[in-house]
Amino acid sequence: MNNEGINRRRLLGALAGTSALAGTAAWTCLNAPTAHGRCFANWESERIPAATELPTDAPIRILLNENPLGCSPKATAAAIEAVSRAHYYPFDLSVKLANQLRRKHNMPLMPEPVGLSSKISPSEDSHVLTLAGGSSELLFGIAHAFTSEGGGIIEADPSYQALGAFALKRPHTKAYVKRVPLLPDGDADLDGMLKAIDSDTKVVVINNPNNPTGTAIETARLIDFLEKIPEQVIAVVDEAYIDFLDTPEQRSVIPLALRSKNIVVTRTFSKIHGLAGLRVGYAIGPRIVIEQMQNYRVGSFSLNQCGLAAAMASLEDTEFQILSRGVAKESRLRITECLKEHGFKVARSDAACVWAESDSSILPLVEKLAQRGILIASGLRWERPNCLRISVATVAQTTKLIESMDEILSV
Ligand SMILES: Cc1ncc(COP(=O)(O)O)c(C=O)c1O
Repeated sequence: MNNEGINRRRLLGALAGTSALAGTAAWTCLNAPTAHGRCFANWESERIPAATELPTDAPIRILLNENPLGCSPKATAAAIEAVSRAHYYPFDLSVKLANQLRRKHNMPLMPEPVGLSSKISPSEDSHVLTLAGGSSELLFGIAHAFTSEGGGIIEADPSYQALGAFALKRPHTKAYVKRVPLLPDGDADLDGMLKAIDSDTKVVVINNPNNPTGTAIETARLIDFLEKIPEQVIAVVDEAYIDFLDTPEQRSVIPLALRSKNIVVTRTFSKIHGLAGLRVGYAIGPRIVIEQMQNYRVGSFSLNQCGLAAAMASLEDTEFQILSRGVAKESRLRITECLKEHGFKVARSDAACVWAESDSSILPLVEKLAQRGILIASGLRWERPNCLRISVATVAQTTKLIESMDEILSV
């Protein structure tokens, strides 16, 4: 395949010159006619070499924010054991995991067992927890439940923009997305997002910490922001990376969601728990909101024995979570330092990735690293060809990455 051709096509599709960490406009508005499926189109056009294209010596895959350590050995054992129940629907295990999570988040427990029921909680509960096959499914449900008649979604730019993309991708959608650029220091522009809300706004999405920058929002600031969002607007706080912070439950806004009328928090087992391939996520929020979302989801049929068993075991393995957090911290500090030495502007990261901007296209670097078996994400997914996102790696992988970048960038 001709790499030149790929690069040119990629660059033509990108908005060159957009700053990685901050924009000048109050927001950019994407609507269906101009942006149909735009995020996913970029995602798909990004070349992720197939395993057969890679050099045989230990490819390093640090482009999807997966856990470089794998998952907890206890989760592996539980998943293997669960295969013996592969012929059974896993509804009983769903209730068990949901109750384990309810206990963690100080919510009332479900009666056990509830047989084949897919009820999300006793009907008197005002706030509920629901499980899903990954948090993407929950973002999909919210997008469809609240923008099926059209209306605006507000998200930070760059951020994990799946919810907006799901809404824009629906055929004949009348939904649109307002993207509010991050502040110059890489923090979310919460005031800008509040200003972007109008009477047509249906959903505001915030990642904490943010993907791709990894930057966490100060808790008091986030709470103040969420309290200012009008009650008729659904506020989604995506806490996929919250466990990378030193005190995740003190930084979480789940307690606020449990008192609110409009705040939904999503979580996933794909990141610190290293279970992206087994698909488990959950949402917590007001019953009235979650029930509307449930109408656009498959529900308990999207969960599986192995994923549920692994998630239950992983939740108990706090040692593995502490280890993963430590490895992530060391890796992102080393990657940040290396990038700064090579003249990149690097965002402050508290999570599982490092986001940096160069003054020219980083695509040649991405290609050269791929040739050495090191896969990182280019900023094209966010229409920023001068940016890259590197997921955290093991100590040895980080060393190999840094050595390779030093060699490539010193030429
Ligand atoms: C912020 C954020 N939310 C959600 C997801 C999707 O997670 P899941 O694997 O649970 O669908 C990702 C995946 O990278 C993410 O970065």
